[in-house]
Amino acid sequence: MNSLLRGIAVGVVVWVCGCTSHSGSTSSESGTSSSSSSSTATIIVGTSPYWSSTPALKDLASFPIGMEVSAANDTRSIFVLKDQLPTINKHFNSLVAGVIMKMRYLHPAEKTYYYTDADALADYAAQHAMILHGHTLIWHWDSEIPAWMKNYTGDWESMLNDHVTQICTHFAGRVTSWDVVNEAIDETTTSGFRESMFYNHVGKKYIENAYIAARAADPNAVLYYNEFGMESSAQKLAILLAMLDDFKARSIPLDGVGFQMHTSLYSPKVDTIKAAFKAVADRGFKIRISEMDMQSNIGHASALDLSMANSQHDRYKEIIKAYLEAVPPAQRAGITFWGLVDGESWLNYLDPSYKDWPLLFNDDYSPKPAFYGVAEALAGY
Ligand code: G3I
Repeated sequence: MNSLLRGIAVGVVVWVCGCTSHSGSTSSESGTSSSSSSSTATIIVGTSPYWSSTPALKDLASFPIGMEVSAANDTRSIFVLKDQLPTINKHFNSLVAGVIMKMRYLHPAEKTYYYTDADALADYAAQHAMILHGHTLIWHWDSEIPAWMKNYTGDWESMLNDHVTQICTHFAGRVTSWDVVNEAIDETTTSGFRESMFYNHVGKKYIENAYIAARAADPNAVLYYNEFGMESSAQKLAILLAMLDDFKARSIPLDGVGFQMHTSLYSPKVDTIKAAFKAVADRGFKIRISEMDMQSNIGHASALDLSMANSQHDRYKEIIKAYLEAVPPAQRAGITFWGLVDGESWLNYLDPSYKDWPLLFNDDYSPKPAFYGVAEALAGY
């Protein structure tokens, strides 16, 4: 998040704390109380009856608790915006790069790989007892495909295999797991798969090829298929399950599924989410919640209010509980949040007129009620 936005946030905190003599406090049915001096506060600090001081999220789970970080010289990079580090280091033991380990970044020219920034992130993770999850080796998103690849006229199958092999070989021993293929399913096409340039040049086989190449290059890395919306589209889930069954029958080395969980405060019902987790877990695959955040501002409010903040608490809590109930301990591969503070969320970059507060921390790094929803679920409350 850039310094201007943070400056505004700090201004709001001064305004909220100074504008009335008492803090209104309220408790949602979950017993969480959060205090605010105004119903239109942008900074709403959460509390919980279970802790007198803020617990460390990573200490509440027997699996990795992660967050998506910016790196290199990005304005929100952990190497630039260092005031975020105490919060990151306290709560998380797993990192994933939002951008710098994508195709365009790591493989900028056909014969050129660029690892410097990702190596620095891997070093940071190793120095702070964190694991590094690699995101993502193959993804159709146009702005993340290098220009040379878009114009490639050679043998696409061997080019993609080499892309995966080179990168997984480089990071072997430093990247614990990979989103080998991201978002390949498209329930609107006849095949059920996205008609990306990879699909159009190689066919559906590009998917299994990638897992075979990744396993060969780094036998110790845990290999995931990462996707959004499987918990809200029965059709998309069915296509995924068929692919999992097929891969399992043919011993394609896919270890787990990442449910991105760019979810909403309002839908889908938690039972639907839980059933989707269970359908994959019942097949023996590991499950990661890989990019969790929560669109909350469908009413286009101008500020986060107490009601929304407490609803986020309840919603985060019910989804994390669903994960714990549906996925056996040995298959729980972790929960990663897609950013730290609300103001830096990708959801706030989609449309200048749209604001949202989808994450666990306020822009001043104070924990929101949503944070305590996650903490209470992890702790079994
Ligand atoms: O760092 C530059 C900055 O220097 C420049 O001023 C600014 C304006 O051009 O761009 C900044 O880079 C942006 C980068 O995010 C860092 O903020 C890129 O333009 C922008 O394309 C990039 O967007 C990322 C997007 O994936 C595409 O890679 C988002 O941050 C990231 O949250 C989003 O994450 C995806 C997952 O990979 C896959 N699942 C969906 C999820 C959300 O879309």
